[in-house]
Amino acid sequence: MSSSSAPPMRDVHNHLLFECAWEVANKVGGIYTVIKTKAPVTAAEYGDRLTLIGPLNYKTAPMEVDPVEPDNEPLRLTLESMASRGVKFLYGRWLIDRAPRVLLFDTGSMYSKLDEWKGDLWNSAGIPTPQNDHETNETLVFGYLVAWFLGEFAVRERQKAIVAHFHEWQAGLAIPLCRQRRIDVTTIFTTHATLLGRYLCAGSVDFYNNLQYFDVDHEAGKRGIYHRYCIERAAAHCADVFTTVSHITAYESEHLLKRKPDGVLPNGLNVVKFSAMHEFQNLHAQAKNKIAEFIKGHFYGHYDFDLDNTLYFFTAGRYEYRNKGVDMFIEALARLNYRLQKAGSKTTVVAFIIMPAATNSYTIEALKGQAVTKQLRDTVEQIQARIGERLFERTARYQGEAHGADLVDPATLLSESDKILLKRRIFALKRNSLPPVVTHNMADDANDPILNQIRRVQLFNRPQDRVKVIFHPEFLNANNPILGLDYEEFVRGCHLGVFPSYYEPWGYTPAECTVMGVPSITTNLSGFGCFMEDLLETPEQYGIGIVDRRTCSVEESVEGLASSMEKMALMNRRQRIALRNRTERLSDLLDWKKLGLEYAKARQLALRRAYPDSFAQEDDEDGGLGYFDESNSKVPPPASIPGSPRVRTPGDLATLTEDMQGLGTSDYRGSAAFWQAIGKNDDEDE
Ligand code: UDP
Ligand code: G6P
Ligand code: GLC
Repeated sequence: MSSSSAPPMRDVHNHLLFECAWEVANKVGGIYTVIKTKAPVTAAEYGDRLTLIGPLNYKTAPMEVDPVEPDNEPLRLTLESMASRGVKFLYGRWLIDRAPRVLLFDTGSMYSKLDEWKGDLWNSAGIPTPQNDHETNETLVFGYLVAWFLGEFAVRERQKAIVAHFHEWQAGLAIPLCRQRRIDVTTIFTTHATLLGRYLCAGSVDFYNNLQYFDVDHEAGKRGIYHRYCIERAAAHCADVFTTVSHITAYESEHLLKRKPDGVLPNGLNVVKFSAMHEFQNLHAQAKNKIAEFIKGHFYGHYDFDLDNTLYFFTAGRYEYRNKGVDMFIEALARLNYRLQKAGSKTTVVAFIIMPAATNSYTIEALKGQAVTKQLRDTVEQIQARIGERLFERTARYQGEAHGADLVDPATLLSESDKILLKRRIFALKRNSLPPVVTHNMADDANDPILNQIRRVQLFNRPQDRVKVIFHPEFLNANNPILGLDYEEFVRGCHLGVFPSYYEPWGYTPAECTVMGVPSITTNLSGFGCFMEDLLETPEQYGIGIVDRRTCSVEESVEGLASSMEKMALMNRRQRIALRNRTERLSDLLDWKKLGLEYAKARQLALRRAYPDSFAQEDDEDGGLGYFDESNSKVPPPASIPGSPRVRTPGDLATLTEDMQGLGTSDYRGSAAFWQAIGKNDDEDE
């Protein structure tokens, strides 16, 4: 943007990076995961030249951030100047790996400016902002604060070039403001979805076949999001570099935001490798036992299935019923139930749905289940101790068979009072109702789409059902009184993650399963699914099921999903262990250590666009560099035919060229050995 106004002498090689997102140190959904898991590799590259900018949430910030004083002059002066005008903020170290610097702005401190800034946005950009849209008000104040900060900072810091990278529309408003004010920074906008895409898909629109034809302004207006759409579109158009997280979203952005992204930056994870391959398998077994404890309580009075032959499937995420494919998951579970019953299977599948909804705490039944099982366990332990004591006494006093007594008469070990105690506990386990489907009291039980779908297919946890369902309408955490596991631990304990999304620009949940060695099912409408489909010729053999939701009917997709789940349910333990080993080996594909390079390329491109003169001499020497590989910019073609993994790299799927100086991409380019390692025979690991 700023090529005309940029002072020529800014140092592009030693540049500063500000990365700005609504979910910096503020957990909402997947963007938090992007920022948090990527921060360590970015901090490793930039050290203290990196600052993350986000909103200040007073409830969570004390747990996330350790305050420090700004230690460079331009920053200190800028923040002092803003504070003197009433801006409140928190500057500190984010308490994560490598402790990157964060600057969190308190939007509430500047609501006095709301009307003035609304007027400015209307006058300068023609973007209207209605009074009562809280999210837009937050976006507006945050955007104006960030632009204010960058404007003052760029005037005080004249030596180094500044890259400002923004994620998603809620952080993107600062981009048009930077451009309009000719602030000397270069900007990148990464979109993790489009507003219109999310809204259109949540309705009953044939989205992917009509992408080219939507009248975007009309559709946005009809849904009451025209102003938000304008902010998103302005951010996409005003950024020096525009990127997104997957090819499918690149295609969507091209049609809905009317700018073709310069490149795709796939999402990675901070992959932790265990020194021994079997360690993650042990973690699975431990976490599974914890889930099993919960199951014993939840199904009290109906605990008539074999936990050693029980599999745990789950889906999780923000409550977007259709977009996240929960409708399809439940329908396919009903078919799986039918198939397992018909085959006389002894396997039980417990399917969890972890999706936050409005609730009034736990149900009495859910709490009671855990309580009565705990009482039973305590009683059994006390009786065990008493039996032990009796055994000890008798053996210690034993005089030998000559005295006419048996060593121990088992019938006398359990006293009459203990028997009565046990009977009482057993009596407490009786109940007339079926084990509940939902663990919480729903704010609107009768109209809840998930519950209604479960009612429709009648998955009521009856004894004859081989598929049981548990809907937990709250994110998990270890302090939870009924299912006391962190999300990560819960995932490890499960056998299969099922994410049949209809709208999913990336979809972290199956990616997280993969790095933990848990097989998952996703779709070819999710960014992650397409990414894997493009990298692997036989994803299913690696524990990545990909349901076709693009080329077949809903009926066929549901059947496909039911069949994939059935395959999993029919595997024996040995096969499951081998599959988990293969899945876990894919983690290298998702490591930020590799995928973070795509971000580095985007930053280089932004610097070159803003400061071409600073690169002219280098380009003369090496003949110039291209950044955008046109051939890779389209949505990739559908599934390929089974075989061995193709020799491709994650970098092949991004669109910013790899041939960039000093980016060190060679570590994954000569990747034959890398692929051999992934594709090796899993029997080696058993
Ligand atoms: N998640 C979580 N707790 C849960 C369920 C999900 O923290 O109980 C997280 C999960 O780890 C993932 C994020 O929520 O990182 C969801 O991201 P995704 O990209 O799948 O979807 P989004 O919500 O961004 O659309
Ligand atoms: C891991 C553990 C094994 C355990 C197995 C259970 O592999 O290392 O000791 O037997 O998990 O697998 P399953 O698929 O039945 O939960
Ligand atoms: C968005 C998308 C999700 C993606 C996440 C991170 O929230 O809904 O699919 O994984 O951003 O990019």
